[in-house]
Amino acid sequence: MRPGDVIQTKRDRGELSPAQIDAFVRAAARLDGSGWEKYHLTALLMAIYLNGMTPAETAHLTRAMADSGKRLDLAELGGSKVDKHSTGGVGDKTSLVLGPLAAACGVFVPMMSGRGLGHSGGTLDKLESIPGFNVNLTEEQVIDTLRALKMALFGQTPEVAPADKTLYALRDVTATVESIPLITASILSKKLSEGIGGLVMDVKTGRGAFMKTHSQSRALADSLVKVGTANGLCMCALITAMDTPLGRYVGNSLEVIESIETLKGNGPSDLTELSVILAARMVELAGIAPRAEAEGKVREALASGAGLDVFRRSIEQQGGDPRVIDDYSHLPHTSSTVLVTTDRTGYVTTMDAEKVGIAAHRLGGGRSRAEDGIDHAVGVICRAKPGERVRPGDTIFEVHYRDGASLVNAMPLLASAFEIGDAPPAPQPLIVEELS
Ligand code: URA
Repeated sequence: MRPGDVIQTKRDRGELSPAQIDAFVRAAARLDGSGWEKYHLTALLMAIYLNGMTPAETAHLTRAMADSGKRLDLAELGGSKVDKHSTGGVGDKTSLVLGPLAAACGVFVPMMSGRGLGHSGGTLDKLESIPGFNVNLTEEQVIDTLRALKMALFGQTPEVAPADKTLYALRDVTATVESIPLITASILSKKLSEGIGGLVMDVKTGRGAFMKTHSQSRALADSLVKVGTANGLCMCALITAMDTPLGRYVGNSLEVIESIETLKGNGPSDLTELSVILAARMVELAGIAPRAEAEGKVREALASGAGLDVFRRSIEQQGGDPRVIDDYSHLPHTSSTVLVTTDRTGYVTTMDAEKVGIAAHRLGGGRSRAEDGIDHAVGVICRAKPGERVRPGDTIFEVHYRDGASLVNAMPLLASAFEIGDAPPAPQPLIVEELS
């Protein structure tokens, strides 16, 4: 099969056959002298970006990408394995809260996570702020950890969905990232590799999200549910607001602190509610309880401390220092903080999640290239959030920084990241829509 013919099919708005998709994915997984070069791959990516794919094409692409690498085989564990995936947001630390809660309710949670890229954070970076925590688990270690705790938190190995690695790197530099079928296949191929039976998607929408509008987010959620279902997953997708940071803490170590506080029952209401609802959907998809009961089970796991106990044992099991649960001084922290205050009386009306995320990134908490290092200690605490009343001199942001140069880059963004008005803003729903 000649690559040019495959590209021409999609260029002329035709439907790619399974064999054509397989050839493309095989080539992406390993450029192996089959006649496909990187320029063929990028030309086809652009044709897909411009002309889209049918649900059947996207479903086949997803399956082929998952099959391009290793899939975890968790059959020996029995039970239901369910994960949650978020399209990425600022202060989005729900994985650290809902994973332990769902596991405490009996769901197996094989949570293969990613690192932060751009202004949104990544679960692996947050976990690695816990001294000693090992996210590089072998398949055997994942299975042992799941057997012991029902939850394993780990990173993707090079053997998982290698076609996605090549295609994502090419999309990143050829303006073809924002394509619903390509995003769908990229996300779901990795999730299918986890050996799960169910997946709860948290599709973020708004200023701090990858998808800025409701209609874009809905199209992505719809595609994820259809394609996941076509590949045998029990799916549900929530579209959730990401105009404002989730919770108050943004930055790796800071987000671990807020997650632990939430598991102790002291979390902010938005983070607590979203974590409980997402965990409840995991319990439901696992077949452990119907929707009406699932939420109560999760709230009980939170109130009893069972979720916190799973997180403590998970830290121990994966080599981390469990003293962080009771004493946050064992987490990386900066010795310098500075406050951003307001000179007005009124209500916080907006807080721009994207600007806060970029500020945390500029402080050193994020990376611009996959190989960059990060500073786990830096970040921003939102001391006042939309709807809250402030007076002159009140703190809006508490900035944890390491050096003056990074602070100079971050401060202008934070100074323009909020607005104060005379009246409180209309309350915005956190869960905008649900598809299943
Ligand atoms: N996240 C992914 O894993 N892939 C995409 O294409 C976009 C977001």
